[in-house]
Amino acid sequence: MNILFIGDVVGEPGRDTIKKYLPKLKEKYHPTIVIVNGENAAAGKGITEKIYRQFLELGIQVITMGNHTWDNRDIFEFIDNAKYLIRPANFPESNPGKGIVYIRINSYEIAVINLQGRTFLPANDCPFQKADELIKEARKRTSLIFVDFHAEATSEKQAMGWYLDGRVSAVVGTHTHVQTADQRILPKGTAYITDVGMTGNYDGILGVNKEAVLRKFLTNLPAKFDISKDGRIQLCGVNIEINEKTGEAKGIERIMLNDDQRLFD
Ligand code: FE2
Repeated sequence: MNILFIGDVVGEPGRDTIKKYLPKLKEKYHPTIVIVNGENAAAGKGITEKIYRQFLELGIQVITMGNHTWDNRDIFEFIDNAKYLIRPANFPESNPGKGIVYIRINSYEIAVINLQGRTFLPANDCPFQKADELIKEARKRTSLIFVDFHAEATSEKQAMGWYLDGRVSAVVGTHTHVQTADQRILPKGTAYITDVGMTGNYDGILGVNKEAVLRKFLTNLPAKFDISKDGRIQLCGVNIEINEKTGEAKGIERIMLNDDQRLFD
């Protein structure tokens, strides 16, 4: 089976890019399940119910989040009913929402887990201990387990990959918005990539309007980070091939669609 994961969707350009390319990606990979990281989907910060529903209508089964989970207040209105949206599982226990979801497709059940790193990001519960806890629970039901580890530091992400090798089908990193070329299958059968990359405006800085970010760097004055709606677009993702009987990953292919690279055909 194939799992298609699309990296951090940033604002309207990101959503438009998915609309444009997802049918083509589905045609190529025939994914059993499509997962996207949607924590930047609403103008770069958080997600709204409308966008959540649009993702589901496009045939996306799970939406993962990260450090921007609570940035759009709309989420507090719908997260309790958003069955297919997960936020980092190692957020405080009292937070609304959940960090794991089980998706049943045909005779298979796939567990999708979202975790957040603690290096250069707000303090949360230990993602490694939380992973142990959730994997123990998930493995009673299925050996098909997918982890989106939303983290800043490459070392923390690599550590998670090695820590979970052989216990989950895939550990993919998100958050930095820049795709890394280190995709591999770890020795015990877990697919790994440090960062899947960003889907949205290709001519910005991490998907954000470059003039605004530059102003901030050059002057240190407060700047409103907005998303440019014009300009070229990019889609970043990975397709992971899994032995559906054992949960072992057999292949991981990077997807990067933009005007300069077309890692697709
Ligand atoms: Fe993030």
